[in-house]
Amino acid sequence: MTKLHSNKKKLDSNNKIINFLQTFNQIFNKNNSVKNFGKVTIFNEKNKLKQDLIISTEKSILKGLLKNNIKVKHRCMNGTCNLCACSVIKGKENIISSSNQELEKDIILPCCCKIKKNKTVELKIKNEK
Ligand code: FES
Repeated sequence: MTKLHSNKKKLDSNNKIINFLQTFNQIFNKNNSVKNFGKVTIFNEKNKLKQDLIISTEKSILKGLLKNNIKVKHRCMNGTCNLCACSVIKGKENIISSSNQELEKDIILPCCCKIKKNKTVELKIKNEK
């Protein structure tokens, strides 16, 4: 009974996120400023910071984070320095990567990745110090 209640809560929460994303999509499409977007939830290295961001699917995840004033370690912006590498907590299937690098499982280079339209991803990032 408790598990059923917990699953229903999770489902309600997911539906709220989907409704939220659809509303944003309608607004952005109307304004013609951002055609597509996805939701990125970020955690810092100590899991103390959690933040939800809506970012464009047309630019890299790293650019989306920087645009939202998230200070992420980075340098090259083209997948060669590996400074931006971060781990995916959830939603790796919702990411499109253009990097040819062989990375560990669940590690991505956000400078070479985009989020799929209306999808969500959870990332653990390394903050710039
Ligand atoms: S910024 Fe260099 S690999 Fe992403």
